[in-house]
Amino acid sequence: MVEILPSLLAADFAHLHEEIQRVERTGISMLHLDVMDGRFVPNISFGPPVIRSIRMVTRLKLDVHLMIEEPDRYITDFVDAGADSISVHQEACRHLHRTLRMIQGEGRRAGVVINPATPVRMIEEVLDVADYVLLMSVNPGFGGQQFVARTLAKAMELDRMRRQMSLEFPIQIDGGVTLKNLADVVRAGCDWIVAGSSVFQAEDPALAVQQMQEIARQATAIQI
Ligand code: DX5
Ligand code: ZN
Repeated sequence: MVEILPSLLAADFAHLHEEIQRVERTGISMLHLDVMDGRFVPNISFGPPVIRSIRMVTRLKLDVHLMIEEPDRYITDFVDAGADSISVHQEACRHLHRTLRMIQGEGRRAGVVINPATPVRMIEEVLDVADYVLLMSVNPGFGGQQFVARTLAKAMELDRMRRQMSLEFPIQIDGGVTLKNLADVVRAGCDWIVAGSSVFQAEDPALAVQQMQEIARQATAIQI
C-alpha cells in the first residue's frame, strides 16, 4: 500500500503540535523528520530533543531521516528520543552494513538513503539487510526544491532489483513530490512518499494529504 509521509521540515516550527494535528486524521501512519547537521548537508534543522517533544504529542510513527556525518554516533540518541525508523545515507556511512544492523539491534527499522548522484548499484549489497530504501529526488538539505526527474528511472531499476531478489522492502522517495508528479512516482514503484511543501505550504494540509492519497490510489489501481 502506498503511504504519504508529511515532512515536518515545511511546517511552522513555532506550532509543531498544531501542525501535526492538522494532518493526523487523514489516515497517515508516519511522520517524516529531517535531521540536518550543517556538515553532510548545508543546513541545520533539529535533533533528538525536538523529536522527543514530538513523540509526546502524537501516536504516529516517527520516521527519522538522518542527513548527518557519522550517524553511528547518534543512533542511540534518536532511538531514545522515540524514532520508529531511522534512515542513514550510504554517502555518510563508512560501514553501512554495520550501521543498519546497529539500528535494527535497537529494535528499529533501518533505512538506507542515496542522493541523486549515487547509483542504485551502490546499495545492492545491503538490499537484503535494509528494511526500506529511500531515494532522494532532490539534493538533500532544503525543502521546496525541484524534483530530479531521473529519480523515476532509479525507482524503476530498484523495483526491478527488488523483484529479481524476491525482496519486499518499501521504496521511499523524498523531495519535490507534488500533486502533479505523484502518479508517475507511484507508477515507478515508490511506496512511501515523503511530502513537505506540498502538504504544509498548502492552504489546507489535511486536504493536500487526502488528495495525494487519492492520486496514489488511482495510480496503483491503473497499474494492476
Ligand atoms: C530534504 C528533506 C525532505 C524535505 C522534502 O533534504 O529530506 O524530506 O522535507 O521537502 P519537499 O517535499 O518540499 O521537497
Ligand atoms: Zn527527508
